[in-house]
Amino acid sequence: MNHATAAERRSFLGALLSIGALLWPPADSALAAEHDGEGQSLEVPPTEDLMREHGVLDRVLLIYDEILWRRLLQGQEFPPEVLAKAAGIVRRFIEDYHEKLEEKHLFPRFERAGKLVGLVDVLRTQHAAGRRLTDDITQRATAAAIKDPTERVRLREALRLFVRMYRPHAAREDTVLFPAFRSLVSPHEFAALGEEFEDREQKLFGENGFEKIASQVAELEKELGIHDLATFTPTVS
Ligand SMILES: [Fe+2]
Ligand SMILES: [Fe+2]
Repeated sequence: MNHATAAERRSFLGALLSIGALLWPPADSALAAEHDGEGQSLEVPPTEDLMREHGVLDRVLLIYDEILWRRLLQGQEFPPEVLAKAAGIVRRFIEDYHEKLEEKHLFPRFERAGKLVGLVDVLRTQHAAGRRLTDDITQRATAAAIKDPTERVRLREALRLFVRMYRPHAAREDTVLFPAFRSLVSPHEFAALGEEFEDREQKLFGENGFEKIASQVAELEKELGIHDLATFTPTVS
């Protein structure tokens, strides 16, 4: 009885596999479906895109921290151009690209839905404040300004305020805004935004734009001697 059932089962499975082979789309159709959006797992979701850009921002904040706490406050030298380049990355990649995406594609959807409106208002205000601080930092990222006691104090204050604001700003977006965003858009719209973000990135920064910017930040870390991640591991006895 059991043997007969197993044989029947095998025969039934064989028939199913034959039918499946006939119905299974040829390779071209499968690729086309993937390209049409059904293979979304290959695309970077828009919120993941934004979060990894926050990773770049966080690495710039580390550079600012190093310059503020270990160089300016302890009287140690550093190349002013490293600070100028770091502020340039903030301007081009964070303020003129990442934050523009948030302001164009995320914030208005929350405002229209009447969700997290208070948070969005604060985030918008902070984007504007960040731009003013980047202006202050850029103007003072010179050898002459760093030697001038008054300008040096202003630079320290701008760096301190920038780092203090952006850590909670990005963390709030990562933990509150981005998770809630999923519920405001359809899966199709979500996938389309991912493609739009990628296209914009490619237009502004070229092929592999994210990787290029991340490696520029890594170069600045190297110039300051803070690139080796292992040096951040504490000795625990
Ligand atoms: Fe933001
Ligand atoms: Fe952000």
